[in-house]
Amino acid sequence: MKKPIRSRHQIPFFYDKSEADFRQDPYERFDSMVLRQTALHLADELWETYPFQSVNDWILEQCPRTKGLHIAEIGCGVGRLIATIAERLEAQCWGLDYSYQMLRQAQAYWVEGKKIHLPGGDRGWMDMELSTSRLPQLNFGLAKASELPFDEETQDILCSSFLLDRLEQGALALAEMHRVLRPAGLLLFVSPFNFQKKAHWDQWYPAEKLIAHLVQLGFELLEHREDLEVFEPLDRHGNKIYWKCSGLAFRKTS
Ligand SMILES: C[S@@+](CC[C@H](N)C(=O)[O-])C[C@H]1O[C@@H](n2cnc3c(N)ncnc32)[C@H](O)[C@@H]1O
Repeated sequence: MKKPIRSRHQIPFFYDKSEADFRQDPYERFDSMVLRQTALHLADELWETYPFQSVNDWILEQCPRTKGLHIAEIGCGVGRLIATIAERLEAQCWGLDYSYQMLRQAQAYWVEGKKIHLPGGDRGWMDMELSTSRLPQLNFGLAKASELPFDEETQDILCSSFLLDRLEQGALALAEMHRVLRPAGLLLFVSPFNFQKKAHWDQWYPAEKLIAHLVQLGFELLEHREDLEVFEPLDRHGNKIYWKCSGLAFRKTS
């Protein structure tokens, strides 16, 4: 595995993110982005149920039950999916993300077992202290999807949720995923295909374009679902965003 360039508060940086990069990255905005992701993924009692349960269930269904697999989530945000995988599958897990603020929250909550403060305030929910039991076997690091820190053919499973349509350099990221996956390794995506740029719609939509690209890279399609529904709660009153998600599972063949 690549050596980190530096570390900040025990988060290894595999990409030399500059101060200008920090300022430009919307996912470094703590109040609007990190707290929203924290509420969504770590504060189940606000919603009575975990809003992304169907995403995590589908990804876990695709994973073989072999212990000790090397599994990484790319774009892990505050880490709920990769922590669930690490817990259930007793795997060697990495959660990678380009946002230091997301990773700080993930590391404090899952690895260090610290209490996280979630302010209610403008969002209409109560102030909360969130905590869980520690998962010391879980690792978090800062990396770009297009420059993964793993050696060639070292990962058994790569997964991502709500990342694909946010990538600036999608083709580079997919080639990187192919590089680091072992032969017969699994690539699992859940995505709402909610691209933000015309060029990205043209390049990857409909899903068949993405599938054809991955087949050319050396993957076979195992499953393609279009019925993964996610409701993202917005406030305590129950206002929600509905996300129509695709689930795509591939195996590396060459
Ligand atoms: C919409 S959030 C999704 C977070 C979480 N996976 C989920 O399902 O809610 C997108 C995440 O991808 C990360 N991200 C965006 N571009 C990235 C890149 N090029 N490489 C790695 N992570 C990236 C962001 O920092 C953010 O945490």
